[in-house]
Amino acid sequence: METPIPDYLAEVLAACAADASGAVADYIPELAQVEPEQLGVVLATVDGAVYEAGDCDAGFTIQSISKPFVYALALQQRGLDAVLDQVDVEPSGEAFNELSLEKGSGRPLNPMINAGAIVVHTMVGDAGDPQARCEQVLAGLSAFAGRPLGVDEAAYASESETAFRNYAIANMLRSRDSIVEDPEDVVAAYTRQCSVRVTTRDLALMAATLANGGVHPLSEERVVEEWVARQVMSVMATCGMYDSAGDWISTVGFPAKSGVSGGIIGALPGQLGIAAFSPRLDPHGSSVRGVEVCRRLSADMGLHMM
Ligand code: DON
Repeated sequence: METPIPDYLAEVLAACAADASGAVADYIPELAQVEPEQLGVVLATVDGAVYEAGDCDAGFTIQSISKPFVYALALQQRGLDAVLDQVDVEPSGEAFNELSLEKGSGRPLNPMINAGAIVVHTMVGDAGDPQARCEQVLAGLSAFAGRPLGVDEAAYASESETAFRNYAIANMLRSRDSIVEDPEDVVAAYTRQCSVRVTTRDLALMAATLANGGVHPLSEERVVEEWVARQVMSVMATCGMYDSAGDWISTVGFPAKSGVSGGIIGALPGQLGIAAFSPRLDPHGSSVRGVEVCRRLSADMGLHMM
């Protein structure tokens, strides 16, 4: 099909490629090894058109972009009230790896920061069976992507050796019974969730599944119910970009989630999923070029929702 969109996307990438600022994540040793110049963008519409440019088939670990999708699985399985009882939906205004518990209830402030995501991870599947849960999480992420995904074992092993902050967070969560399993086992399982390997194309289709009310645009499988997709996109809008969430929603204007391997997704309800990838990060842990790609797409295509 003749279409000007890939040319436009290539132009956006060319404009963003000049920016070599930021640094690859190095607190996970395996992430420090990646080729930092990689850059890709994919748009997937809710009716199944996919437009791509750059390194859109390069594999990388999903990291924090797993959080909205695993939140969706927990909501679908447990219901809204049961999940809200454990994890709030308020922006923390702090970095992703701060403890950020709500004063009073002691719940993690939201499911997009590590503390909230670690609790949410344990709410998928049957309690007390971390291995079965990891399989359910992988199956759920695969359903969102519309193809079978796998775990990057080298990245998993690498992060497991240096996950000191997450062990600390999980121990704090265990001390107040927010999690009831052994904190080391929970961090291991959560780290496997973060180590699932995806491409930019996968992420765009995962985001498009949220934008499409929980139905994958190509496989047409209903992965989660519509209220779940709405809840997830709402929390992405307020909390997905951590301590830059306010700047993001006011300037770019759509629900988003970033990850420390350099991926970033946007989900525009009823319209499309967006994904960009480039490994160098800003101080908030989001891809420098990925953020810039989204800024340009939002401005050029009028994607700001407000
Ligand atoms: O738990 C961690 O620290 C990583 N596995 C994921 C953090 C992450 O992607 C934060 N996002 N920008």
